Amino acid sequence: MADRPNPLCMVGAGYVGLVTAACLADAGVDVRLLDIDAARLALLRRGRAPIHEPLLDELLAEVLANGRLELHEDAATAMDGAQIIMLAVGTPPLGDGRADLTQVRAALTQAVQHAGPETVIVIKSTVPPGTTASLRSLCRRNGRVVPLAVCPEFLAEGSAVRDFRQPPQVVIGGDDPEACKRVALLFGHLDAPVRITDSTSAELIKYGVNAFLALKISFINEMAQLCEYTGADVSSVADGIGTDERIGRAFLGAGLGFGGSCFPKDVRALDQAASYHGQNFQLLRAAVEVNQQARSRFVAKIQRALNGKLAKRRIAVLGLSFKPGTDDVRQAASIDVIRHLEDLGASVVATDPVAMANARPLLPRTDLVDDPYACIAGADAVVVVTEWPEYVALDWPRAATLVRRHLVVDGRNCLPVDQLVDLGFTYIGVGRPIRKPRPLKRAKPGSKPRAELVAVP
Ligand code: UDX
Repeated sequence: MADRPNPLCMVGAGYVGLVTAACLADAGVDVRLLDIDAARLALLRRGRAPIHEPLLDELLAEVLANGRLELHEDAATAMDGAQIIMLAVGTPPLGDGRADLTQVRAALTQAVQHAGPETVIVIKSTVPPGTTASLRSLCRRNGRVVPLAVCPEFLAEGSAVRDFRQPPQVVIGGDDPEACKRVALLFGHLDAPVRITDSTSAELIKYGVNAFLALKISFINEMAQLCEYTGADVSSVADGIGTDERIGRAFLGAGLGFGGSCFPKDVRALDQAASYHGQNFQLLRAAVEVNQQARSRFVAKIQRALNGKLAKRRIAVLGLSFKPGTDDVRQAASIDVIRHLEDLGASVVATDPVAMANARPLLPRTDLVDDPYACIAGADAVVVVTEWPEYVALDWPRAATLVRRHLVVDGRNCLPVDQLVDLGFTYIGVGRPIRKPRPLKRAKPGSKPRAELVAVP
């Protein structure tokens, strides 16, 4: 596209910066990716993404080879002549949940120093409402104001490249309509509506989307609890509720709730922003509380299923990442669940296809094994925390011959229930009736199911 702003400097090769830089380069923009982390850049130079993200390695290899993506450590070189400087630096939570804007301010100050007459600076990081407007005072240089816009990202881990290419919309916020239109040209190749609004509204759209999705998850988890009391099945209830087009089925998956780097952080940051203005945003607090309860209720459920005794029980945990398709264990349910089980005396052995290295430092007491069958061997309970397809499609007849006790507790309602009960397992999910083993058709003749049958809740 001839009038597309070019080149672009992306500041920050973290999750958002890296994916956005690679996708924009793939779309024909000359992107210079700037990061202070030399080790990260060295890894990228070898064609390896520092994160597990489908399609990203291939994309990086291509845009690095064709020169559309350059890697830089020096800000002056990377920013020289850039028509867009995009800031994708971290906004980690402070102790009270507010977003720490130190990196955004530092990157913005540097960008203003190097901005040319045509540069527009764009904040890609997730920042609280009002941030972009308040940072405009930093955007003066030699008597000139460098235009500042905000363009929140909506990429989900595990599907980030696809999400970039097929977004529901592109949101751009700022007080300079011409600058916003130039930013919009970056995304002109996408078949997506572009919403240009003021910067604070754009910031609130980003938080609003994440907070609303988190509310949906907590809502269905509350419904799941009621399903357990009343004998209903939450999957069926969610299908029914979600069929109403005004609601939609997405994010009505009951289970262990939300984790990851975005939902927990953004819900708290939005709550903090509301508190700052004296508003008590009660729904947000409820969503966080329900999410935490989902984890503790799950542990209690395992404990009850083992007659209240976790001491010396071997619990096999399948899945450590906060969701499938990623190696990210930030705020993952697995960490809370495993620590809690271990505090209650259980001996936990866990596995994950890609997240073991990230989980290891957080779980010093846990036996982490690569092979899911080794994980399951001798288990008193098999517990699913992350719905990786490989666990759903596990060779369950083989698993049935390996366990010590035929008990499965499925935190994501993802397993083939009928097959499991046919194999002699007691199946306990979330928000659905317990299924007891059917008369045995198991692979190992002669052995009896040993799962205790329990009432939930
Ligand atoms: C989210 C947003 O989807 C994305 O737009 C934003 O840019 C970043 O935050 P992400 O954190 O990668 O993306 O994961 P997402 O797929 O949204 O799932 C978040 C959490 O909710 C996961 O822990 C997932 O297991 C959980 N979840 C999701 C449910 O418990 N039930 C559901 O129905 C859906």
